[in-house]
Amino acid sequence: MADQVLVAVLLVLLSKLKSSLSAKPKLNLPPGPWTLPVIGSIHHLIANPLIYRTLRGLAQKHGPLMTIRLGEAPVLVVSSPEAAREVLKTHDTTFADRFTNATAAAISYNATDVALSPYGERWRQLRKICVLELLSAVRVQSFRRIREEEVARFMRSVAASAAAGDEMDMSAAIFWFIYDAFMRECVGSRCKYQGSRIMQMLATAPRKALACRDRMQRVLERVMKEKKEAMDSGAETVHESFVGFNLANDVYTMNNVMATRRCRIITVSANGQGFSRTGSAGRQWPRCRPRCEKPSKGRPQSSRMTFYLKLVIKETLRMHSHLPFLIPRRCRKTSRVMGYDIPEGTTVLINVWAICRDPQVLGRSRGVQPERFESNNMDYKGTNYEYLPFGSGRRMCPGATLGLANISLALLSLLYHFDWKLCDGVEPKDVDVREAVGIIANKRTNLVLRPVTRIAPANA
Ligand code: HEM
Repeated sequence: MADQVLVAVLLVLLSKLKSSLSAKPKLNLPPGPWTLPVIGSIHHLIANPLIYRTLRGLAQKHGPLMTIRLGEAPVLVVSSPEAAREVLKTHDTTFADRFTNATAAAISYNATDVALSPYGERWRQLRKICVLELLSAVRVQSFRRIREEEVARFMRSVAASAAAGDEMDMSAAIFWFIYDAFMRECVGSRCKYQGSRIMQMLATAPRKALACRDRMQRVLERVMKEKKEAMDSGAETVHESFVGFNLANDVYTMNNVMATRRCRIITVSANGQGFSRTGSAGRQWPRCRPRCEKPSKGRPQSSRMTFYLKLVIKETLRMHSHLPFLIPRRCRKTSRVMGYDIPEGTTVLINVWAICRDPQVLGRSRGVQPERFESNNMDYKGTNYEYLPFGSGRRMCPGATLGLANISLALLSLLYHFDWKLCDGVEPKDVDVREAVGIIANKRTNLVLRPVTRIAPANA
């Protein structure tokens, strides 16, 4: 009996020795909060639905490169400018894949659009079309007339509210302005499907993603068909739009990289990225408006206003980055970052919301301080890792020029033509600037203001 026990113990020891010899070397993963079986770190995240805030708190304890587990799946959370530089610059290609879940895959035709495509030849071709054709500086410039017309239309509606002494829901008004301008940039003209609010479909609950995608597809099919007919009959405007470009350049469908259907997907994807982002610059008006008008030596008032508005937009995108996490990435191969091993397949969350609040970056001025951008040369190019509203590296946003062009003219016109008053009894300090829950950090409550005409817009 004793012999049998001895043999059993020896066998167990031998098998342990064998498995420890054959086991892969232990990875030195970035630290993170304690985990539970099955749920991983989820219990740390449920207290606050604004997950980027919770993750910032955890990163302050565990470090700027932190591992959490969503169930079994490892997630790398990046929360400082230095760590962002490592991931987005030093190891750019390693982290150039996107993470997709079932909902995103459904909306994006199984991750075949430019924003969610895996890093590779297909994505490279789609991206090239976006950067060189659809969203180039020349193309954005060519949309100037559309922008001016849409801004004029917007100003007339504000002037009407001002004349009637009405309050305006500026969050909604700016959303629809951006929506209308962008639809015209996509389609080339006001189209009868303008009211079908393609983007509203995208905002539907995740479980409806497929149905929503199909509805969107049907609207786009009709838009494409009508544009094709208009082009064939020699109408001029069609070439000036994304849809017109896609139709006119069927050549891209010839090289086996994508089918015509895929070109359409670029338009869908561009839609998805463009809306409701910069509208949030309006949030800071009540606080910043008086400063825009501050007299300044050596600058005429209008140029001071333009200059200061640029600072306000930068500060708004710092404080309220619309994507608190950049679009999630995926590690393509096991690599070493800042001394830690990051296994292949790890999902990567870049917490831009936290990075833009890094105390070392902010210095002593924590609150709204557009002037911080007067002297620090930070721009939107994604090379200042403490300021990444459009991301950085290979997957950074190609639509920044268009997004900023659309909103800058509208905001400038709103400030030039109107004075803005808060509703009765609301003080600037009471304006709610909290974010709503979601992947996109929209404002939790809408900004309601009363416009007072200062310089009447033309044809008002
Ligand atoms: C102010 C407005 C905008 C903001 C703040 C913004 C922000 C962003 C951010 C943070 C990303 C993720 C970048 C990364 O992962 O490093 C992104 C990606 C992207 N954006 Fe924008 N965006 C804006 C407007 C637009 C517009 C107008 C378009 C197109 C019409 C657009 C198209 C895209 C595309 C296609 C991607 C994915 C790029 C890729 O994965 O290769 N964006 N955007």
